[in-house]
Amino acid sequence: MITVRVPLGERSYDVLVGHGARRELAAMLPSTARRAAVVTQEGIPFDVDPGMPFERFEIGQGEDHKTLATIERLCSGFAGMGLTRHDVVIGVGGGMVTDVAGFAAASWHRGIPIVHVSTSLVGMVDAAIGGKTGVNLPEGKNLVGAYWQPSGVVCDLDALATLPPREVRCGRGEMAKYHFLTGDDLLAMDEAERIARCVQIKADIVSSDEREGGRRALLNYGHTLAHALEIATGHSLAHGEAVAVGLVYAAHLAHRLGRIDQVRVQQHYDVVGGSYELGTSLPSGLAATELVGLMGRDKKVLSDGLTFVLDGPNGVEVVAGVDPELAGATLADMR
Ligand code: GLY
Repeated sequence: MITVRVPLGERSYDVLVGHGARRELAAMLPSTARRAAVVTQEGIPFDVDPGMPFERFEIGQGEDHKTLATIERLCSGFAGMGLTRHDVVIGVGGGMVTDVAGFAAASWHRGIPIVHVSTSLVGMVDAAIGGKTGVNLPEGKNLVGAYWQPSGVVCDLDALATLPPREVRCGRGEMAKYHFLTGDDLLAMDEAERIARCVQIKADIVSSDEREGGRRALLNYGHTLAHALEIATGHSLAHGEAVAVGLVYAAHLAHRLGRIDQVRVQQHYDVVGGSYELGTSLPSGLAATELVGLMGRDKKVLSDGLTFVLDGPNGVEVVAGVDPELAGATLADMR
């Protein structure tokens, strides 16, 4: 079992990575808790034993259920079981479950402890770490939420044995991102080491910039085009698949801006398409004007016009004020 610490002062916590890690859950729960609310979904590969009385709440599948109505339903359930601010919520599932359970915990009695048991690759390397919680509105994804750090995170690698190939690809998209943030050869590590290293990379970034005032934005490398592609394709391209394409696009854009050379662009293809075996082509039939418009509205970049996270001589950094025409023309560079 590998333990990675997320150092955030009095809100610091451990992330436990390994096969069978769920069996350590009870030891990770706050000592004040007398009851637990387990928030999960149908199809999650295992149940957990919190070692105390608990009630189980299932949320629906898919983004359509990532709503304030689901939060209201969960909180009514918490009221029904008499969950107090000393008790605990346990989110068991992928990124959607931990985002929703986290926001319900952040809201119930103005915030009670939450522990995540992450069961997807994206969840383990990204979503369950760092305290971002929230739900969607009809106007956009994750528009309502809170920073609410968990008291602990369990990444049980047993869950990955049955993960559908598409979800594996999504996790690999986020891992390819970490490759470019650090240069680490993650694929040379064994599975537990690799996931723990991704957690460590994210923990380092989050602990230096918990509320995304600066450095945490680097975690959005490849994500500006990715978010636009997800919307433009009606989510037929899943998040991590879109990130893979977005990483290669970001390399082309950095090249157009004179920040990296052609060799570095090719490295992006080699890593994303070669090593991580992910698709790097733009889906056909999407208009450049639509994609540039969507990139301009990305909620992460609203502050300063068209903003990207781009590679360059000093590594990956935030670049604001990119010319929309250049961003559009760069789409045509994609192979
Ligand atoms: N998933 C990006 C972040 O947590 O900041």
